[in-house]
Amino acid sequence: MAMIAFKCPDIEVVVVDISVARINAWNSDRLPIFEPGLEDVVKGCRGRNLFFSYDVEKHVAAADIVFVSVNTPTKTRGLGAGKAADLTYWESAARMIADVSKSDKIVVEKSTVPVKTAEAIEKILTHNNKGINFQILSNPEFLAEGTAIEDLAKPDRVLIGGRETPEGQKAIEALKAVYAHWVPEENIITMNLWSAELSKLAANAILAQRISSINAMSALCEATGADVSEVAYAVGKDSRIGPKFLNASVGFGGSCFQKDILNLVYICECNGLTEVANYWKQVVQINDYQKSRFVKRVVSSMFNTVSGKKIAILGFAFKKDTGDTRETAAIDVCHGLLGDNAKISIYDPQVTADQIMRDLAMNKFDWDHPQHLQPMSPTAAKKVDVVWDAYEATKNAHGVCILTEWDEFKKLDYKKVYDGMQKPAFIFDGRNVINVEELRKIGFIVYSVGKPL
Ligand code: UGA
Repeated sequence: MAMIAFKCPDIEVVVVDISVARINAWNSDRLPIFEPGLEDVVKGCRGRNLFFSYDVEKHVAAADIVFVSVNTPTKTRGLGAGKAADLTYWESAARMIADVSKSDKIVVEKSTVPVKTAEAIEKILTHNNKGINFQILSNPEFLAEGTAIEDLAKPDRVLIGGRETPEGQKAIEALKAVYAHWVPEENIITMNLWSAELSKLAANAILAQRISSINAMSALCEATGADVSEVAYAVGKDSRIGPKFLNASVGFGGSCFQKDILNLVYICECNGLTEVANYWKQVVQINDYQKSRFVKRVVSSMFNTVSGKKIAILGFAFKKDTGDTRETAAIDVCHGLLGDNAKISIYDPQVTADQIMRDLAMNKFDWDHPQHLQPMSPTAAKKVDVVWDAYEATKNAHGVCILTEWDEFKKLDYKKVYDGMQKPAFIFDGRNVINVEELRKIGFIVYSVGKPL
């Protein structure tokens, strides 16, 4: 929304949220999320045509276009638990829009939703407010965290789905006119609602599938002496495949890939497509396998036990250039190591100690439901230490695990790290950021995903 305000000075954008604390943060000098370049965009138009408010109803009533970006986590209980998207927040947003509207509105689905959600939303809106014409559009977001501003400024495509009626087409044109302020017309794609909704799930599923494919290869590389980076390079040179998204890793994380695939699996199952559901489920299963394979590698290399040993964790965010930890592989890896009674010392340049402790105390799928949060047991908490420097984390450690590809981990003084560690000094690179040869020369015992041992 900040980018829309930034690029369209003639449009007034009001971001509303029921959380007063969140809105206050957006109105302050310290934005509530870390995203390179975002601060400049927000400060460039806040108070001009970009406003943040918790007076939700007033601003929704006044708007011509309402973007709904509420979260759609995986359901934790009831029908479809563990797979289906929980649309509670979406439904209550739709009911509120219906309640407060006095003029016609275009309601835009920005959150990722199951296919056919627009139909349900349309029913809620029209049955609760008979006098008003609501047009529902699907306008899924394709930005990635860490590169959000670049992705928004120069999107590969903007996708708008709408009804094939004259009113639907008019609504599509209205939203198209917003993006046309800065996106070339040929990059704004329009289609029917269901195609647009499904395209978002399909894009994320196929991206995640590429990662699980290369991660599956990484296991075979380790077993055979091949090098996964060389394999990925050779494969990516095929112009039909392309070089992006072929980096083997400790496993993909983030709030979207797993959630969207599980949602896709559920939709397939509901439509009786068992084989298709099983195919996509495998992408998540390989990801879980990759995380547990990493933990096993750490434990087995360190003489089959890490009990009482200090392990440094470098990087906790699910990828570099973000402070976001949702579904980060680091949570599962830390749980695995704590399960074997290790003492862990964590350093991430953007994630706070509070956040890390909360993440480690939560059960899977709980990040969206903090009311279910259990405090970490005092015994477990004693084994976790969060520090603000990589050298501090690695001091006296028996092993180091690199779990996020932060640039600074490429440039660490590894001789200094080595000198401060217990011997033999182990390093497990879950992101292939270090120079294996150089570190072996220093004296480290090195494991790097998909590389010869
Ligand atoms: C992803 C998609 O890339 C966006 O297009 C989409 O809009 C977004 O989800 C969403 O649905 O909101 P995001 O999760 O922010 O974006 O980040 P990605 O860059 O896709 O990375 C996801 C995970 O995959 C990270 O843990 C990353 O480290 C991992 N990854 C990525 C790999 O392990 N290997 C790769 O080659 C690429």
